[in-house]
Amino acid sequence: MESFKVLVLCTLLFHFTPSINTLQKIAPGQSIKGDETLVSPSETFEAGFLSLRDQYFGIWYKGLSPRTVVWIANRDAPLGNSSGVLNVTDGGNIVILDGTGFAVWSSNTTIIVKKPLLKLLDNGNLVVVEENNPEKFLWQSFDLPGDTLLPGMKLRSNLVSGDYTSLISWRDTQDPSSGLYSYHIDTKGLPQVVITKGGVLLFRPGSWNGNILSGIASKNLYKSFNFSFELTDKEVSYGYELLNQSIVSRYMLTSTGLVERFIFRDQVKGWQLFLAGPADQCDNYAICGANGNCDVTNSPTCECLKGFIPKSQAKWNSQIWSDGCVRRVDLACGKSDGFLKFTGLKLPDTSTSWFDKSLNLEECEKLCLKNCSCAAYANLDVRNGGSGCLLWFNNLVDMRKLTSGGQDFYIRVAASELDHNNGVKKKLAGILVGCAMFILTLIGLVVIILRRKKLKKEGRNQIINWKNHTDNKDKEGIDIPIFDLSTIANATSNFSISNKLGEGGFGPVYKGTLKNGKEVAVKRLSDNSGQGPKEFINEVELIANLQHRNLVKLLGCCIHDDERLLIYEFMINRSLDYFLFDENKRSLLHWPQRFQIICGIARGLLYLHEDSRLRIIHRDLKTSNILLDENMNPKISDFGIARIFGEDEAEGKTKRIVGTHGYISPEYATRGFFSVKSDVFSFGVIVLEIVSGRKNRDFLHHSDLDLLGHAWRLWGEERPLELLDESVGDTSTVSEVVRCINMGLLCVQERPDDRPDMSGAVLMLNGEKPLSRPKEPAFYPHQFGSSSRNCELPSTNEMSITLLDASTLITFNYIQSFEEYEPKQKERIMRGSD
Ligand SMILES: *[C@@H]1O[C@H](CO)[C@@H](O)[C@H](O)[C@H]1NC(C)=O
Ligand SMILES: *[C@@H]1O[C@H](CO)[C@@H](O)[C@H](O)[C@H]1NC(C)=O
Ligand SMILES: *[C@@H]1O[C@H](CO)[C@@H](O)[C@H](O)[C@H]1NC(C)=O
Ligand SMILES: *[C@@H]1O[C@H](CO)[C@@H](O)[C@H](O)[C@H]1NC(C)=O
Ligand SMILES: *[C@@H]1O[C@H](CO)[C@@H](O)[C@H](O)[C@H]1NC(C)=O
Ligand SMILES: *[C@@H]1O[C@H](CO)[C@@H](O)[C@H](O)[C@H]1NC(C)=O
Repeated sequence: MESFKVLVLCTLLFHFTPSINTLQKIAPGQSIKGDETLVSPSETFEAGFLSLRDQYFGIWYKGLSPRTVVWIANRDAPLGNSSGVLNVTDGGNIVILDGTGFAVWSSNTTIIVKKPLLKLLDNGNLVVVEENNPEKFLWQSFDLPGDTLLPGMKLRSNLVSGDYTSLISWRDTQDPSSGLYSYHIDTKGLPQVVITKGGVLLFRPGSWNGNILSGIASKNLYKSFNFSFELTDKEVSYGYELLNQSIVSRYMLTSTGLVERFIFRDQVKGWQLFLAGPADQCDNYAICGANGNCDVTNSPTCECLKGFIPKSQAKWNSQIWSDGCVRRVDLACGKSDGFLKFTGLKLPDTSTSWFDKSLNLEECEKLCLKNCSCAAYANLDVRNGGSGCLLWFNNLVDMRKLTSGGQDFYIRVAASELDHNNGVKKKLAGILVGCAMFILTLIGLVVIILRRKKLKKEGRNQIINWKNHTDNKDKEGIDIPIFDLSTIANATSNFSISNKLGEGGFGPVYKGTLKNGKEVAVKRLSDNSGQGPKEFINEVELIANLQHRNLVKLLGCCIHDDERLLIYEFMINRSLDYFLFDENKRSLLHWPQRFQIICGIARGLLYLHEDSRLRIIHRDLKTSNILLDENMNPKISDFGIARIFGEDEAEGKTKRIVGTHGYISPEYATRGFFSVKSDVFSFGVIVLEIVSGRKNRDFLHHSDLDLLGHAWRLWGEERPLELLDESVGDTSTVSEVVRCINMGLLCVQERPDDRPDMSGAVLMLNGEKPLSRPKEPAFYPHQFGSSSRNCELPSTNEMSITLLDASTLITFNYIQSFEEYEPKQKERIMRGSD
C-alpha cells in the first residue's frame, strides 16, 4: 500500500514537472535557472534561459514551435556554455550570472525598494514592481527594445538630449548580438521613423500624418491597430496597440534590415508575413534623387516631378538617377510663384522641414511664398479635413507613388509651369493633333487604295484572298504592312551571313536596314507549316495587334511562294543572355535593372496569357528570347509563332515539342502537355538565372545539382542571398532579391498547379501578394537521368529544340513517358537529332 502511494506520487511528480518549473514571479532570494521559466498570467509569454549559438536570457511566445523570441536581456553578453542564473537583488536589480558567478548583465535599477518583484506581463513586458504597488514599474524590458516592437511598446527619442531607443537587428538569425540596422525616430525637422545601416539612411517609413506613418500604404487590417505618435517639446514616441484582442501581431527588424509585420494565424498555428519594408525598389531612400518621383509600375521607374527636368539627361537616360532633377523654370521668388498639387505620393523627407500645429493650409501657403527657399507645403495632420502646416526647404527627396493612401501636398513652381497655362497649351496641342490625325487618315486611305490597286494589277491572288478575309472580320485592330520580298532581300543584303543575328526555334534571324534607314530584324520561318497565305496573314495580323511595352513589335510580314518572313523592330541591346552570361557585361546589369527586367518580362507574359484578346502561350521563353531596347527595357520576342505555325490550342497536348533544354517544363518535355503554367515554369528559370547570373543548363557542369536545385538548397538552408550574382555589388534591395528567389522557386514547382499564374506572379513581385513557401522544385537530373550532365546541346546560338522529326514524334506520343527511354536515347531526343 505504502509503495503504491509513492509510485502514484512519483508519476504525478514526473507528469507535472513542467508546471513546477514555471514561475509566476520572482522575489529577492529566488532565482531562475536551467529550464525554469517565468510565465505571464494567461500564459501568452514565457521568459527563461534559451540557447541559440550561445546561451541567453530571453522572452518568447509560450507554446509556439519553432520558438519566436521577442527580447533578449544579455544580447551582447552571452553566457558561453556555462548555465546561467537570474537573481533579483534586494534593491530590485535584476542580475544574470554565469556559471562562475560573474554578473554578465544587470538591469542597473537604482531605486531602493522594500519588496521588489519580477513579473512577466501578458503583453510580453518583463517588469520590476513593488509588491504593494503593482501598477508602478520600477524597471521594464519595454524601455529596452530588442529587434521586436510588440503592441504597447514605444520607441522614444528625446528632443533635448538627443538620446533615443531603437529596434536593433540581430547579427543573423542565430546571433542576437547588436547588428548594423536600426529602426528609430529621427528628430531632425518634423520627426520621422527611419531605418539606418551603420548610421546611413536606407528606408523612411516616414513622418506621422495623424493616422499613420506617411510612407506606409494604408491597409484594411490597420483598422484593428491604434498607432500612436506623441510629440511634445521634450520627447517624441511611436508605438501601437491592437484594438481587436483576438489579433496577435508583432513587428520586427530582421537581421537583413527589413521591417516585417507578422500576424498569427490560428488555423495554421503560425505567423503570416503581412507586410515588409523596404517593399520594393522605390522604398530605397532617395532612389530617384532630388525632386524625382519613384513608381514601380512605371518604366523607367524614376520620373521628374512636374515642373522639373533631369539634371543630367544623359545619366537619366542610362538610369542613373542619383543626380535627380532641377527646375525647368527658376522660381521668381515672389508672389508670382504658384503651387502644383500632388496626390497619392509619399511625403518628401522631412529632415529639412519646419512645422507649426496652429496654422491652417492657407496661412501655410502664404508663409511658404514668403521664403524663397521654401519648396513645398502640406497639412501636418490629415484628420478632420486637415490642420497644421508643414513646410519643406530646398530639394524634395524620397517621394514615391503609394499603392493606396498618400497625402496631398503642394510643390512650388514658377508661374509659367502652372496648370491654367498648360491647359491653354493642351487645348492648342489637342487641336493640332486632331488636324494631324485627320490628314494622316486621309493619306492612309489614299495609300491603301493605291496599294490594293497595285496588288490587283500584279495579280497576287493570295493577297486578294486575304483582303476578302479581313473584310469579314471585326476591324478593331490594325492592318499589317506587307513587304515585298525584294525590299527585304535588299535590306538584308540578300540574307547574307554577315547580317545573320542568330538562329531561333523557327529559323534564322537577320538584321536589315530599310531604304529609309530604319533598322529591322527579319525572321525567316524555316518550315512551311502547310498554312495557306490567307491563314498566315490572318495569324500575323492577330499577333501584330498584340501590343505591349514588353513585347517586341511586329512591323509587318512578307510572303512569296513558300517564303514566309516576319519583320520586327530591331533591338539595339540585343538579348538578355548577351549581357547576363558574359563575364564582362554582366556587371552592367545592376540590381535595379535586373529587377526591372524581371518585372517587365512578367508584365509582358501576363499580357500574353491573360490581358490580350488572344490567349498566347509562348512555349519557348528563354533569356535569348528576351530582347533589350535602348533603355534596357525587356521585350519578349518570338511570341505567337506557334500560332503562326498553325497550332492554336489554348492548352492541351501537342506533337510538336518546342522548347529549350533548361527552360522547358517537365510535363511538356516528357509528355507534351502544355498550358500557361509551362510558360510560368520557363519564367521561373529565367528569374533564377537573372538573380544568379548563371545558366540553368550550364550549372550541371559544375555540380550535382542544377540551378533550381542549388537555389532550393540555399533556400532550405536559409541563406537565399548567396544565390545572388556577386557582380551586382551592393546595388541590391534584399527584400526584392528574396522575393524574386521565392517567386522563382514557386514558378518552377514540379506540379503545374503548384505554380502561380502570371497575375499572381506580378502581384508577388510588387509585394502586393504574400508569397507562400515553395516546395522542392522540379529537378532536371531527376527528370532526365544523370545523362543530362553530359548533355551537349549545340550551344553557340542556344538552339531551341524543335522535335519535328516524324519518327521521334510518333515514339514520343506512343510511349508517353520520357522515363522509359534509356539515358542515351533521352539525350538524343533532347538534342532533337536522330
Ligand atoms: C542568486 O540566487 C541564488 C539562489 O537564490 C543564491 O544561491 C545566490 O547566492 C544568488 N547570487 C547572488 C549574486 O545574489
Ligand atoms: C565551451 O565548451 C567547450 C567544450 O565543451 C570548451 O572547449 C570551451 O572552452 C567552452 N567555452 C566556454 C566559454 O566555457
Ligand atoms: C548596466 O551598467 C553597465 C555598466 O555601466 C552597462 O555596461 C550595462 O549596459 C548596463 N545595463 C543595462 C541593461 O543598461
Ligand atoms: C489610441 O491610443 C491613444 C493613446 O495612445 C488613445 O488616446 C486613444 O484613445 C486610442 N484610441 C482608441 C480607438 O483606442
Ligand atoms: C477581430 O478579429 C477577428 C479575427 O481576425 C475577427 O474575426 C473579428 O471580426 C474581429 N473583431 C472586430 C470587432 O473587428
Ligand atoms: C527661409 O527658411 C530657411 C529655413 O528655415 C531659413 O534658414 C532662412 O533664414 C529663411 N529665410 C528667410 C528670408 O526667412
